[in-house]
Amino acid sequence: MTHYAYVNNKIVNFKNAKVHVEDRGLQFADSVYEVIAVLNNNLIDLNFHLKRLKFSLKELQIKYKFTRSSLNKIFLKLIKKNKTSNGIIYLQVTRGVQYREHKYEKNLSPTLIIYTRDKKFNLPGNKFKGVNTITYEDLRWKRRDIKTVNLLPNIIAANMAKKKKAYEAILIQNGKVTEGTSSNIWIIKKNKLITHPANSNILKGVTRTSLLKIINKTSLKLVQQSFTYRELLNADEVFLTSSGSFITPILKIDKIKINKGKIGNITLKLAEMYSKSCMNG
Ligand code: PDD
Repeated sequence: MTHYAYVNNKIVNFKNAKVHVEDRGLQFADSVYEVIAVLNNNLIDLNFHLKRLKFSLKELQIKYKFTRSSLNKIFLKLIKKNKTSNGIIYLQVTRGVQYREHKYEKNLSPTLIIYTRDKKFNLPGNKFKGVNTITYEDLRWKRRDIKTVNLLPNIIAANMAKKKKAYEAILIQNGKVTEGTSSNIWIIKKNKLITHPANSNILKGVTRTSLLKIINKTSLKLVQQSFTYRELLNADEVFLTSSGSFITPILKIDKIKINKGKIGNITLKLAEMYSKSCMNG
């Protein structure tokens, strides 16, 4: 249970965890974030998350300095206090508080928010499940490589998925797949594993980065290239990756079955290899 949060140098009661009404995160989405999985008390891929956090902060020139050890200390404290042995850590850094004005002042003090939430993960085993998805137009801005809380287009698409009883919306731009609203998308065709290249059109997922390392150890041929809606539907297998969903098979897209609606062998193998690597730290 989430009883405690960390807001600006203090652990506070979750009910009392508040930021100012003129915080730029609230008014302008002038803010970056990370979602880190906690599996059996282990922080998954922490270094990759912190590297990406640093990149997002630098791109937006939000002057928040941190060290791995200082953040790790807070994460571990919150995990313990909230008893989050399986769940996620949510971290957000806003540019800070300022009178409302689009242009920002130089020396604002960034707002730091961290808390944890329990979550059951979809891991290979008896209960490993595949999901249904829809597709939706990618309405986002041109810097999707920065992990900002500027997420309205994602929210609109995700809510359409919810309306259609689907788990995720796959975003389409000019007939091509970019990524999911909160995940990266992969297709398998014969021995080829295809995913969008890590450029400014997508978020370079941490789970994606970890999986690339695992794929290197297999005989699969990796292709980092964008693919069309048609290629998506004609794929042998499709899956998504994210810190919240790890590797989750996609069984249906816009009501069309993939792999006859069954979890594919390669997806299952990769999910097993990925979860094993998480367990081994
Ligand atoms: N979302 N693409 C987008 C747009 C995302 O928001 C996410 C993550 C990913 C996958 O990245 P990673 O493997 O680092 O989690 C790709 C998080 C989980 C979220 O917003 O909840």
